[in-house]
Amino acid sequence: MRKKISLIGAGQIGGTLAHLITIKELADVVLFDIAEGIAKAKALDIAQSTSVDGHNVSIKGTSNYEDTKNSDVIIITAGIPRKAGMTRDDLLGTNLKIIKQVAEGIKETSPKAFVICITNPLDVIVMALQKYTGFSTNKVVGMAGILDSSRFKYFLSQEIDIPVKKIETMVLGGHGDTMVPMTSYTTVEGKPLNQLITEKKITNEKLDTIIERTRKGGGEISKLLKTGTAFYAPATSGIEMAESYIKNLKKTLPCAAYIDGEYGIKDLYVGVPAVIGNNGVEKIIELKLDSIEKANLEISIKAVKELFQAAIKIDPDLKSK
Ligand code: NAD
Ligand code: LAC
Repeated sequence: MRKKISLIGAGQIGGTLAHLITIKELADVVLFDIAEGIAKAKALDIAQSTSVDGHNVSIKGTSNYEDTKNSDVIIITAGIPRKAGMTRDDLLGTNLKIIKQVAEGIKETSPKAFVICITNPLDVIVMALQKYTGFSTNKVVGMAGILDSSRFKYFLSQEIDIPVKKIETMVLGGHGDTMVPMTSYTTVEGKPLNQLITEKKITNEKLDTIIERTRKGGGEISKLLKTGTAFYAPATSGIEMAESYIKNLKKTLPCAAYIDGEYGIKDLYVGVPAVIGNNGVEKIIELKLDSIEKANLEISIKAVKELFQAAIKIDPDLKSK
């Protein structure tokens, strides 16, 4: 029996998610949006593409949560993206209200779903979503670290002229300017990144530039687009998480997951290595951080906590959940 993925938000990322799921024949798709025309148009267009490539999945567009009933996976992109010059945090007020609506829409209809949140500001929105739905913390997770890690990996690959497949890395912490590329866990063809610095394959200055470009990766694209933000890499990253759940791949992926003691932090969503299998987030991997990484992660966690306090000011309900 093919699984069912409901996509809440049929915009740039939602439409790309739908197309990727179809191409991979990962699941049947329900594309939901309050703008019913967008959801139905994109579903019909993608459905017609299956006549070309022969992919055998069903896809439906809707603005009725009933159609999303009993979803195995729900991926949420409902919300506004930032415009050039805006920060992800500027989206908090609007997207917090939207995520509360989405939570109301899914909590009765798909209580057993694995929920992947993409809407920004990611770390706080996913935390609010879990509280609004009341779903178990292992079944609600945020997508950001895979995207940030993919950018870091790509920029490194371009600099040292090594295929991305030969580079392993992770970016942890909040999905914002304080994110933490884990240089001590970055390897190139199995060699630690520091060894490439010793071998003069890359300089510390160039590495710092790449880290900064990774942190600003979203802004770089939104500046070029002027309206809207990245969507191909974010959608591809969300599919990586959904696939690990549906196929029980138990991949260790950098995600905004709930931690309660790991890394010395309690009751918070933040980007950490998480094992994703058919029980959702099955384990949080605690990496041994060097002093710089530890300090930077603490800064990032502080930023997430501060933004969550701003969310509580907007909706005091969040405090009691
Ligand atoms: P988009 O504007 O193209 O799509 C958003 C869709 O949400 C629109 O179609 C809109 O009609 C719909 N929507 C609005 N309110 C809704 C509601 N109450 N219920 C259902 N649907 C609703 O935006 P996008 O480019 O797809 O980005 C979506 C979100 O993802 C933004 O918040 C963006 O900042 C975020 N984002 C996150 C990451 C990440 O790494 N986590 C990366 C890129 C973008
Ligand atoms: C990005 C922003 C939009 O990383 O979250 O693309």
